[in-house]
Amino acid sequence: MLKKEEKNNEKKREKEIGKLIKKLTLDEKIAMIHGASLFRSGAVERLGIPAIETSDGPMGVRAEFMDDRWIPSGNEDDMVSYLPSNSALASTWNTELAHDMGCILGAETRGRGKDVILAPGINIKRDPLCGRNFEYMTEDPRLAASLVVPFVKGVQENDVAACVKHFAANVQETDRLMVNEEIDERTLYEIYLPAFRAAVQEGKAYSIMGAYNKINGFHCCENKRLLDEVLRKEWGFDGAVISDWGGVHKTREAAECSMDLEMSVYSDFDEYKLANPLKELIQKGEISEQLVDAKVRNLLRLMYRLKMIGSKKDSRKAGAYNVPAHREMILKTAQQSMILLKNEKSLLPLDAKKIKKLVVIGANAAKLHSNGGGSAEIKALYEICPLAGLKMYLGGNTEVKYVKGYHVPEETTAEENWQATSLDEAQGLEIGQAVRTDEAGNYERNRKGEEERLAKIEREKAEIHQKNEKLFAQAIEAAKEADAVIFVGGMNHMIECEGYDRSDMELPYEQDILIEELLKVRKDIVLTFVGGSPVEMPWRDQAQAILWSYYAGMETGNAFAKIIFGEVNPSGRLPETFPAKYEDCVTAKNGQFGVWGKITLEEGLYYGYRYYDRQRITPAFCFGHGLSYTNFEYSGLTLKAEKGKNVKLTFTVKNTGKRAGIETAQVYIAPIAPQEDRPDKELKAFTRVELGAGRSKKVSLILKQEDFAYFDVHLHKFITDAGDYEIVVGASCEDIRLRGIATLS
Ligand code: BGC
Repeated sequence: MLKKEEKNNEKKREKEIGKLIKKLTLDEKIAMIHGASLFRSGAVERLGIPAIETSDGPMGVRAEFMDDRWIPSGNEDDMVSYLPSNSALASTWNTELAHDMGCILGAETRGRGKDVILAPGINIKRDPLCGRNFEYMTEDPRLAASLVVPFVKGVQENDVAACVKHFAANVQETDRLMVNEEIDERTLYEIYLPAFRAAVQEGKAYSIMGAYNKINGFHCCENKRLLDEVLRKEWGFDGAVISDWGGVHKTREAAECSMDLEMSVYSDFDEYKLANPLKELIQKGEISEQLVDAKVRNLLRLMYRLKMIGSKKDSRKAGAYNVPAHREMILKTAQQSMILLKNEKSLLPLDAKKIKKLVVIGANAAKLHSNGGGSAEIKALYEICPLAGLKMYLGGNTEVKYVKGYHVPEETTAEENWQATSLDEAQGLEIGQAVRTDEAGNYERNRKGEEERLAKIEREKAEIHQKNEKLFAQAIEAAKEADAVIFVGGMNHMIECEGYDRSDMELPYEQDILIEELLKVRKDIVLTFVGGSPVEMPWRDQAQAILWSYYAGMETGNAFAKIIFGEVNPSGRLPETFPAKYEDCVTAKNGQFGVWGKITLEEGLYYGYRYYDRQRITPAFCFGHGLSYTNFEYSGLTLKAEKGKNVKLTFTVKNTGKRAGIETAQVYIAPIAPQEDRPDKELKAFTRVELGAGRSKKVSLILKQEDFAYFDVHLHKFITDAGDYEIVVGASCEDIRLRGIATLS
């Protein structure tokens, strides 16, 4: 559409919105700006204004819940496609797939009759132990920004709003509702905000979710600096801000800043902060009704954009869920997400023809993950676990023996949903009902809950240890007799979940001990893992092959088998560092993670690879790492810096191996003699090159002026200094293949 036509349409829309607002009574406006059910806002039927239907979450559309209880409705029609988690998507480094996954999520959301999907989660992975890391993409702001933009566009092409979450810096689950994060301006702008800014300015996200945590003393949902100044004024956001569920604490503060829709976990909808309490303040003349009008305007604009109201209503897309084409794309994404961390003596791929007897060891071989994790849980139409994938691939002529290998305690299936109990005194309440207390009460309850959880883990450790003796012996015996052995371990959503952080970086259930024992029996065990965040691998030097899969969706098992047997050449790259041990993390050193009350992000820009680079710490597997069954060579870097403009770089990538593969070339900028303190190098561009055996391709990439910029806190803006910058091109952040110098004038 022409710019002028677009402008006229916008003007017309704003006029219509203005007229609608004039017709609304105060009660009706108030109804629109808070939850009227756990996942729905209030409607104004009289004027044809519908409710906004929201649903979690990042890995698919969540099952239906009752209106006022955290109890699934028990329907048989709300199973959906289970998408790869954001961490799996990020490990593809594939912006086209990010768009495809967004499209699928959007279509399924609309197909289920929803308006807003509470996704994607794009918080920066600052510490490997954050319980929700599996829902987030990466440790790197540039990679997150590059993926979130196409993802949001994909969602919104389906007349569904993405609700990008959690704005901002929701970096830990410990004390998540109350924790205050002290973050300096530069770190905020360079690390924690860029992906959100890209989602808003480039992705044109229609909505954004305010986080639970506080930043510099103010809850994100009541944070004028964050919502009014940064989001609205600096970035020009004119979409809707939706609170995280229970993220609003004070009526005046939330009313007076750009928080448009208060959602919560409680069923006393009239008592929401932006309900009766706000109405009373307005009636007393203490708060201007115009503040409510501004919120209503943002929500009505969202409805126009989604064609929920207005002249385009009849052309709104219908969406579709559980479509076969979705599953094909999910399989493709899963295949591209799995990361080959190590492959000595080309142990992988296995030759299926040579295997008469395969032994599979490990609980994750037979574990389904879709129904866990917190609000990201979904009711998957199906989920193929690795064991099923292997058997389906091999067919009946290969004997596949499965042994569990280690004990995993039973998952406690509470009658009540954790989202209710997490904020609920649970004393004499009806099932699924959440009841509010004051902040001190909340804090006490959550602390107590955490203590109980930790005590339970300790009790379970004894049970695991006792049962493992027999299970280990069975696994070791089985491993001896097989033609090939595949271990499938890792984590699950009892270990990594919303609401709490992991307490250490070890593989749970004594897996390390079993792996060490197995490697003594035979070296050629294929070690594979499913999980959402880094684990320590103390035995990694002894291992020949290690394959890592993030939670990769409903087709996990099929993708897994195709990679193991070489039908698919792995191409995933780590979107985060796997440190050798937790003690190597800056947060382990500064003690500013997983603490109640307050954390200070003292490390500033120096966490993840920025920290390991600076401190010369070698991680187990670095950011951007991932192997292939073929090899790639890089050559011929040229750099052309145009005065005051972009830097154009070209280089050639050649597939020197015997099979087709995909290489992800990464471009980092390393300022030489910077005037300000800058990380040694930072990712600024990347490209995936698909090459047949022996083929090569010349790649060209553009680095913009702003790619060289840093945030100047005195000028309060990004600036680019003139000078020399080393441009390093690599297959990971450590495997640097080409270097050149660009001079910016
Ligand atoms: C989570 C959000 C989620 C919301 C609704 C909150 O507890 O933090 O990510 O979208 O619940 O389920």
